[in-house]
Amino acid sequence: MLPALSEEVSMTVRTRAALDTLPAYAPGRSVPGAIKLASNELSFPTLPAIADAIADAVAHQVNGINRYPDNGALSLVEALATHTGTTPDHVVAGNGSVALCQQLVQATAGENDEVLFGWRSFEAYPIVTQITGATGVKIPVTGEHELDLAAMAAAITPATRLIFICTPNNPTGTTIRRADLVEFLDLVPDDVLVVIDEAYREFDTDPDSPDGLEFALARANVLTLRTMSKAYGLAGLRVGYAVGDPHVVTALRKVAIPFALSSVGQAAGLAALAAKDELTPRWQQVVAERKRVTGELRDFGFEVPTSQANFIWLPLRERAADFASHAEAHKVIVRAFPDASGGVRVTIGSPAENDAMLNAAASFQR
Ligand SMILES: Cc1ncc(COP(=O)(O)O)c(C=O)c1O
Repeated sequence: MLPALSEEVSMTVRTRAALDTLPAYAPGRSVPGAIKLASNELSFPTLPAIADAIADAVAHQVNGINRYPDNGALSLVEALATHTGTTPDHVVAGNGSVALCQQLVQATAGENDEVLFGWRSFEAYPIVTQITGATGVKIPVTGEHELDLAAMAAAITPATRLIFICTPNNPTGTTIRRADLVEFLDLVPDDVLVVIDEAYREFDTDPDSPDGLEFALARANVLTLRTMSKAYGLAGLRVGYAVGDPHVVTALRKVAIPFALSSVGQAAGLAALAAKDELTPRWQQVVAERKRVTGELRDFGFEVPTSQANFIWLPLRERAADFASHAEAHKVIVRAFPDASGGVRVTIGSPAENDAMLNAAASFQR
């Protein structure tokens, strides 16, 4: 017979202390009947060839969804290697690039180690860092809302294990310049991993922007992180990948959850890569709309940093929540980061969706 629990025994399961102060990831909200410009997704429908590949993956009579997926996502990894001009041992796919962010921290940093990133930047960085017990070090962006690479280099200590460089930066949309990145990388010790998170690179038209791949293939301590969630329209299927030195790629595979990338996601990723030429005009439309939206918002008097992503940033600081409520009253959902360094991030949607957002912005009392 089990002994009776004494009254003194706590009934609360003990979880790790690191979780007590862990902020929950706040996703962009979906509100029925409202336009969602809150999660940097593409507003276009899924291309027929990609939808067919997904249906085939589900319906396959022998190797359908009754089977576990290929654990190493080999066909997709091979296609990604061809896509990025490298060999499969330099590529690892993950359950969205956010899973790879977490794997990167797990692979490099634990208690007493530091993970450096700009702030504001992708909000998952501090969360995945804290989960492992490592310390996140936030380096404020410049007055122009750009990553401050000089300050980041100066913040490297013997405890630094990992550095996230997000370019174009989420949520500010700004990019770093290739020459500045070279200078920065030359200052980083060889045993510290630099991750260039290029989730939005397909929308970046600035000729001065670096191509993370160039560095990931030339330097053993640099890795580029990419996703099929944004430009390739697969946010719901969770397909991300990293390209880097085989030593780091192997470490990322070791800490992965088995079968993390579904067979449907793998099939969709392959089909989306094959459909790149059909997707490119969509990216061009986003870029053209970004220019139009930026221009109109500036004409209304908003500060809008030049964005190279599929969203724009309004550094409204403590007025961010008011703007988001005002937009919601106009049936447009944007993403507010309501604090002193905060603002509002607005995804570039279809022309009609952007018009609805501009209509709301025009009547916002600042
Ligand atoms: C900079 C950046 N990196 C990574 C991700 C993660 O994308 P996913 O996990 O969908 O690949 C996002 C998503 O918003 C992002 O903004």
